[in-house]
Amino acid sequence: MENVDLASVNLFDSDVYAERVPHEWFAELRRSAPVWRQELPDGRVFWNVTRHEDLTAVNRDASNYSSWLASSLTMPGMEDILDQQRLMMVNMDPPEHTKLRKVVNKGFTPAMIRQLQEHLAEEARTIVAEAVETGDVEFVEQVACELPLIAIAEFLGVPREDRRRIFDLSNRMVGAEDPDYQVDEEEAMAAMIEMYAYAQELADERKANPRDDIVSKLLSAEVDGEHLTVEEFNVFFLLLAVAGNETTRNAISHGMLALLENPDQQQKLRDDPSLIDGAIEEILRWGSPVMHFRRQTTRDVTLAGVDIPDNSGVVFWHISANRDETVFEDPYTFNVERDASQHIAFGGGGPHFCLGANLARAEMKVVFTELLRQATWEQRAPARRLRSNFINGIKDLQVTLTPK
Ligand code: HEM
Repeated sequence: MENVDLASVNLFDSDVYAERVPHEWFAELRRSAPVWRQELPDGRVFWNVTRHEDLTAVNRDASNYSSWLASSLTMPGMEDILDQQRLMMVNMDPPEHTKLRKVVNKGFTPAMIRQLQEHLAEEARTIVAEAVETGDVEFVEQVACELPLIAIAEFLGVPREDRRRIFDLSNRMVGAEDPDYQVDEEEAMAAMIEMYAYAQELADERKANPRDDIVSKLLSAEVDGEHLTVEEFNVFFLLLAVAGNETTRNAISHGMLALLENPDQQQKLRDDPSLIDGAIEEILRWGSPVMHFRRQTTRDVTLAGVDIPDNSGVVFWHISANRDETVFEDPYTFNVERDASQHIAFGGGGPHFCLGANLARAEMKVVFTELLRQATWEQRAPARRLRSNFINGIKDLQVTLTPK
């Protein structure tokens, strides 16, 4: 890789990510400055953690590295909406986080996911069949977007007739930095309020008429005398609508792109479908849909020999740790047969480890199984990337699907 002058590196420059992931920057940082202090052009300072080992250490140490103090996000202006952000579990610390997580875990049992998976397989079959019938598709919108939205809607017991409304609201809520999607802040806020009100309606309805579904379970679940208040449920509903959509959509799009760009790997998967579970893990490593998360130090700490002062922003980069050459041999090669199980696309094993990991895996599995079974694929144009330093996003992928 070419030499990198760290003085010119800005890891938060969204324009860079609209073009590519700057892997050569991360490689240099892992090699020569694994805990690297960057002052952003707007004056904010972040300590960037790029190695797998250090990411895992920070991720598992909630007492030194807080999600609550400054939230887990890095976007500017966070101080102004911090109170609201702190209602979400992803921005809480133990013991509050632990209590809430125990309750919502009741909804994410393997049995629940299994039940959902059977249904998602059917949905995937239909989504792919329709796309194959169309032939020339924009893959992101026509395939990758659909299942994650359906999965969350199903999971939360949203009736079919309300799905479109929920689709529309969640798309408006993720007011991306990308000019193609720019929703103004007021619109994003209005969507959020509407979503909140929708969750409230759903909660009221299920409280009055409990069913054997997750909403009823979440509202009645009790752990150590704790249960979810209606307000907590509404916030959780909102978090899932955001956390489960763009992430899984991009995991699917990255998988498609990687398999298109590596036809030998695609062929291996076609020849031996039993490789699918390992391939899903490799896609997650390769794609790392969430590129970073943030923590705030609660005291002076030393990480990899570097002193970080109390109350500093620390950012760990999943996208870098998933290419760490000390963990993954030949990390820039997409290889469906490798053991990618050490990837940290869902987090480094700490208390916030992705609650939807198994649901996301299940979605990816059914979608790729159907895509491989029903069609051969051809890419018609270079993929266009999302302008974001947070989500590793593909916004346009032109593919021709030909029936097998
Ligand atoms: C491929 C898709 C996905 C990726 C890459 C992803 C990634 C992540 C990551 C990196 C975290 C933070 C982990 C940490 O800080 O250690 C997280 C947390 C979370 N994810 Fe996911 N996620 C995905 C799909 C989903 C889905 C489908 C759902 C919902 C059904 C979901 C719900 C959540 C929630 C609720 C949290 C917060 C958990 C907590 O604070 O305890 N995610 N996710």
